[in-house]
Amino acid sequence: MSSPAIEVTNLTRKFGDFTAVNNISFTVARGDVFGFLGANGAGKSTTIRMLCGLLPATSGSALVGGFDVTLRPDDVKARIGYMSQRFSLYDDMTVAQNIRFFGGVYGLTREALDERMAWVMTMAGLSGRGDTMTRTLAGGFKQRLALGCAVLHQPEIVFLDEPTGGVDPISRRSFWELIGELSAGGTTILVTTHFLDEAEYCNDIILIEAGQLIAGGSPGRLKEEQIRFPILEVSPQDPLAMMEEIRKSDWAVETSVFGTTLHVMVTDEEKGRKEIDSLSRRLGSGAPGVHRIIPSLEDVFLHLLEQKRSGRKGAV
Ligand SMILES: Nc1ncnc2c1ncn2[C@@H]1O[C@H](COP(=O)(O)OP(=O)(O)OP(=O)(O)O)[C@@H](O)[C@H]1O
Ligand SMILES: [Mg+2]
Repeated sequence: MSSPAIEVTNLTRKFGDFTAVNNISFTVARGDVFGFLGANGAGKSTTIRMLCGLLPATSGSALVGGFDVTLRPDDVKARIGYMSQRFSLYDDMTVAQNIRFFGGVYGLTREALDERMAWVMTMAGLSGRGDTMTRTLAGGFKQRLALGCAVLHQPEIVFLDEPTGGVDPISRRSFWELIGELSAGGTTILVTTHFLDEAEYCNDIILIEAGQLIAGGSPGRLKEEQIRFPILEVSPQDPLAMMEEIRKSDWAVETSVFGTTLHVMVTDEEKGRKEIDSLSRRLGSGAPGVHRIIPSLEDVFLHLLEQKRSGRKGAV
């Protein structure tokens, strides 16, 4: 079996007294699409910058493409592509100039650059638009162009830091198709996102909060392992009043708001349904729609974060 694409062991980064990344360890298999999830400030970009050799770790180690990031940064850099959180393109250059610039950075030969330039323009849907100013491109095109530039030199491993922020859903979808194609071609992709629907496209994911790793695994496995109780989707007339009541009860493990519905994790489905019925009668509203649902990753993560928070409360 080949060695993993990325192997992170007890990686930590402090800024003064503040610990941005706290002792995290994980492994990314070759060819994986690996999702890196966490709220704002969780430590995703800091981790990526360490893995790309752009920021030294305070402690711990990381092997990327089989090389230690601290000891062999140049070997690592030769094997990776990086799309930073703010698309790394130059707005005041044309599409072709941007591609040429990255070709220069990655040391491509003239022939290789010509060939890859044609490839990037096609994959970005920009064929024939080499002279267009990058600043005038719509978000989805810019994003595909930035991805093309990050993989211009056909790296083994690509780091994409929130590549779909501020991009419309259709463009997001087609961007994920591109990621799927790259992965099918053998490229390993580590991608951060705030969109939990996108995490479903990943083979493996990890969730970090406040610099700490909370959970990891395939989306399917995480659902199976983390969600042990049935979840009922309830559509009450007044979701907030209903949630307040449910939270006082002992038959509901957890309750979260999803738009105008509630997701209620219950110890027992039958009992949960009866209790919800009698609660809505008490609240003077009609019987709400109640359906058992297959948990989404959002359910999983809300559950994990809830557990972490209540654990913290317990620890104080
Ligand atoms: N150079 C720095 N100096 C001091 N603090 C920093 C520095 N870089 C990052 N931080 C802090 O480290 C924490 C993690 O930041 P990071 O950018 O890694 O989060 P993130 O998960 O990428 O968040 P987002 O989803 O908003 O991009 C934040 O609290 C941030 O303010
Ligand atoms: Mg970030």
